[in-house]
Amino acid sequence: MLREWSDIYSIGIEEIDRQHQGFFAASHQLYEAILDREAKSGVIDAVAFMRSYAETHFSTEEDFMRRHGYPDLDAHLRQHVAFMRRWEELENDLRTFGPGQDLADRALEMTQDWLIDHIADEDVLYALHVKAGELGDHPARHREQPTIGDR
Ligand SMILES: [Fe+2]
Ligand SMILES: [Fe+2]
Repeated sequence: MLREWSDIYSIGIEEIDRQHQGFFAASHQLYEAILDREAKSGVIDAVAFMRSYAETHFSTEEDFMRRHGYPDLDAHLRQHVAFMRRWEELENDLRTFGPGQDLADRALEMTQDWLIDHIADEDVLYALHVKAGELGDHPARHREQPTIGDR
């Protein structure tokens, strides 16, 4: 099911929210391109676009976390790396098997389900850290390290 961006996914940092919104838009375009049998080259372009979009977004976040001294940067970074690795596998499968429903479903799972979970479980934490810093306290320093799931 294609999900639309909603304000409930907002983490309250404008630039990042805008990029997350763009992620959804790119995800819809990609899904439709994969299922559009007329547009084989469109799929390659849409997958490549999503890759560079993800790279840009992740590096924006990583710079942001570094700038604000986010203590769980490494764990967050590993999740971004894991996403890019899975995306590479998807690109390889696309080259080997071509587009189809299976690939469309995987792309959707990664660019929507994964993204929504990642925003809600991880991105929100650095946003809270930054906001707490603006108020003069950093609760992230006091809480336990989150466990990293295999996503
Ligand atoms: Fe992130
Ligand atoms: Fe993000």
